Amino acid sequence: MKKITIAIDGFSSTGKSTLAKQLANHLGYVYVDSGAMYRAVTLFAMQNGYIGTDFFDKQTLINSLHYIKLHFQFNGDLGFAEMYLNDVNVEKEIRSIEVSSFVSKVAEVSEVRLKLVEQQQEMGKKRGIVMDGRDIGTVVFPNAELKVFMTASPETRAQRRFDELQAKGDTVTYDEVFKNVQERDYIDTHRADSPLIKAADAIEIDNSELSKAAQFDKVLELVQKASKL
Ligand code: DC
Repeated sequence: MKKITIAIDGFSSTGKSTLAKQLANHLGYVYVDSGAMYRAVTLFAMQNGYIGTDFFDKQTLINSLHYIKLHFQFNGDLGFAEMYLNDVNVEKEIRSIEVSSFVSKVAEVSEVRLKLVEQQQEMGKKRGIVMDGRDIGTVVFPNAELKVFMTASPETRAQRRFDELQAKGDTVTYDEVFKNVQERDYIDTHRADSPLIKAADAIEIDNSELSKAAQFDKVLELVQKASKL
């Protein structure tokens, strides 16, 4: 079977990354979580005092972009690649509610997007890649052989995210998570540069009522079809 490019886009907490990781492991493909890259840039902005609850010094972040070095490193124990910011493993920190609450603002900045899209396209040159995000099928890999667009109700997504954060010991409330999900949906779909939209040739999967196994089987079937074309 020929190696293809698989783009998985969708709203936050639709289980994109779980599905993408599963697929990559099964197919022996590289998995790239593009959201982790936006989160790492956000963490950099927080660490340097460029963004906070009521301020965002966009221009200084733009001027400092060349100080940001991102790379993924595979962790055999976890079975996926972790995010490194300037050679420091930030996989845990980038999942915090603080980073989650600022990341959409950082992802709106065209200069940030340009830098990350370039790096993502470079990673996809050899094919055999599954990348998840918001603009993978529309901007990063418009010629991907398979594009999946994942959706689920905001309540389902907030509950999933809340369960995840609680399991990690985060003391966040469901209402906070629900608000964060709604805010991110709004910003992600309304931003001027690369808003979250379904690519015309993407296949939509609503997984509110779908088990992870059923969803995996469905997408694997699509991969097999696309790999034969
Ligand atoms: O998938 P995620 O929740 O980790 O993504 C974090 C944020 O990054 C999300 O609010 C939107 C942004 N993002 C983006 O704009 N483009 C991508 N390709 C991936 C993520």
